Amino acid sequence: MPYRSAMSIDVEHARSITPGTRQVNHLNNAGSSLPTQPVLDAMAAYLQREALIGGYEMEAEQEPMHEAVYHSIATMIGAQRDEIALTQSATAAWNAAFRSITFVPGDRVLTGRSEYLSNALNLLLASERDGVDVVVIPDDEHGQVSVDALRDAIDERTKLIALTHIPTSGGLVNPAAAVGRIAREAGVPYLLDACQSVGQRVIDVDELGCDMLCATGRKFLRAPRGTGFLYVRSTVLESLQPFVLDSHSASWTGPRSYTMEAGARRFEEFESSRATRIGLGVAVDQALAHGLDAIADRTSGLAERLRAMLLALGRVEVHDKGQDRCGIVTFSVAGVAADHVKQALSARSINTSVTGAHFAQFDFPQRGLGRVVRASPHYYNTDDELAQLVEVVAGLN
Ligand SMILES: Cc1ncc(COP(=O)(O)O)c(C=O)c1O
Repeated sequence: MPYRSAMSIDVEHARSITPGTRQVNHLNNAGSSLPTQPVLDAMAAYLQREALIGGYEMEAEQEPMHEAVYHSIATMIGAQRDEIALTQSATAAWNAAFRSITFVPGDRVLTGRSEYLSNALNLLLASERDGVDVVVIPDDEHGQVSVDALRDAIDERTKLIALTHIPTSGGLVNPAAAVGRIAREAGVPYLLDACQSVGQRVIDVDELGCDMLCATGRKFLRAPRGTGFLYVRSTVLESLQPFVLDSHSASWTGPRSYTMEAGARRFEEFESSRATRIGLGVAVDQALAHGLDAIADRTSGLAERLRAMLLALGRVEVHDKGQDRCGIVTFSVAGVAADHVKQALSARSINTSVTGAHFAQFDFPQRGLGRVVRASPHYYNTDDELAQLVEVVAGLN
């Protein structure tokens, strides 16, 4: 079971250890969040000593600290330590899982309308290269993946369900656990992209029923850029064949033989920045200390209040779908281009981003949506910061 707590967040303290909050009003946590000083300090200390004693020597010296990173991630998502592989991004993790499945022409992959851009691109690539049939499951009346349609779409050719939990382009939280129950009943492997939900929500791989899960560090986890991880359930490990092996993921045991690492580390690459991994571990520990349920409550609460304030302006449309909505708010302002809104906010040191069909070709065109502004508060943001954003939007012409 992943760690949960009933604590509420000490926002003042969270801000005091986040140097970036003194520079910017950062409402782009779905892009890349602001790290804390302890994360920065841990990485700086690692790099300093690494430079003094040597990279390999430092790694050996700090082995317990490196092992602790796996332990922290496993604790956070309710997994075992040997079910975690560290990667440089969510995309690398997703592909490590996806490309370890051997597809033959006619195999079907079921996905949702909110599938992430890079996952969708690789599905299209597999469609071209391997003849995989990519089936996009429609949404239900709430705008989340239709669990009934997904159940009906499963047949003997269905090789994988690949779903994005929280999309990059909206506040939707897909019913990932209901999908997991269907996947289990049908015996179909289930790959969940939890890139936007890890660090924002309680994630329990058993509750979700996923076999593989990918995530990145830099978003709601507040870890450094260039970090990510893959979870692979131990019971599916042997059914997957890693697409790439290297000196770390396997051993060359004889001229014509090799053995793979015992656990999910067979999906890792040897080379990576060890310092940023240490930063990832500190960030995960901080999220655990706050409590993922407390983070979820605060983040969703801020986002709900932001939606209400924006709607109260009268000229703003909010585009977030789903029954359960998270800390991502997407909106457009009548008569003002999304890029202009972003620029006006940026001029006041308010960070947001712009998203659109280029991120969501399965979804935005069907909804007749063009480019929209995305504001994504995290637990360390304040209601005052939301009010600043709303004030700028109110003054736009
Ligand atoms: C839902 C989702 N999945 C995957 C990714 C890709 O993450 P990365 O850039 O770490 O590969 C993103 C990034 O925005 C995302 O929002």
